[in-house]
Amino acid sequence: MKKLAVIYHSAHGHTEHIARQVLEGARSVTNTDVHLLKAEDLAKAPDVLLDYDGYLLGSPTYLGGVSSQFKAFMDATGRLWRTQQLKGKLAAGFTVSSLPAGDKQSTLFSMFVFCMQHGMLWVGNPFLPEQHAGVPYDEAVNRLGSWSGMMAQAGHGASADAFMAGDVKTARMFGRNFAETLQRFAGSHTEQQREAFA
Ligand SMILES: Cc1cc2nc3c(=O)[nH]c(=O)nc-3n(C[C@H](O)[C@H](O)[C@H](O)COP(=O)(O)O)c2cc1C
Repeated sequence: MKKLAVIYHSAHGHTEHIARQVLEGARSVTNTDVHLLKAEDLAKAPDVLLDYDGYLLGSPTYLGGVSSQFKAFMDATGRLWRTQQLKGKLAAGFTVSSLPAGDKQSTLFSMFVFCMQHGMLWVGNPFLPEQHAGVPYDEAVNRLGSWSGMMAQAGHGASADAFMAGDVKTARMFGRNFAETLQRFAGSHTEQQREAFA
């Protein structure tokens, strides 16, 4: 059994809605135990991270970066960084913002650098944009064209669950792909490598 954490901050519910889709996708993979954790709670107890094999990180994009609450969680992992206790864990990132671009890439990049500093292994969002295959834009998987992590667009002033069908589908596939990757990764290691990562 592999244990995954979907770690998120959401002030107005949009990122939480997408986090729940990611959770559902990851849970559809057998032998995977997936938990939804708030970044604010983990900031107070970062050692909880040690209980997990992989992390799906989610933050709204605020001024082209992660929210301050999400950054507080990241900064709370300083001791884990010094001891490199998260080395070899798998990680991926997702973000929500109201504009089509909105500098979401910058948010994903700060998550990526955070994970690299911890020695984690980054998993992307490996799906071709379905609009190229004739799927209507609103319904297309990866319609925003992000491979380094998952992006979703919340309508300006829209309710927390008012996402285009394509973004909801992408979030589920992103979560599923991450859990499948973790299962493959675990299966591809020798006993000696597993011990080195433990
Ligand atoms: C302080 C602040 C900064 C924001 N900066 C951006 C931004 O840089 N790009 C963007 O597209 N949207 C930006 N937004 C919009 C949010 O990303 C958007 O409302 C998002 O859905 C919020 O997620 P949440 O409901 O999970 O809190 C910003 C919102 C706030 C409050």
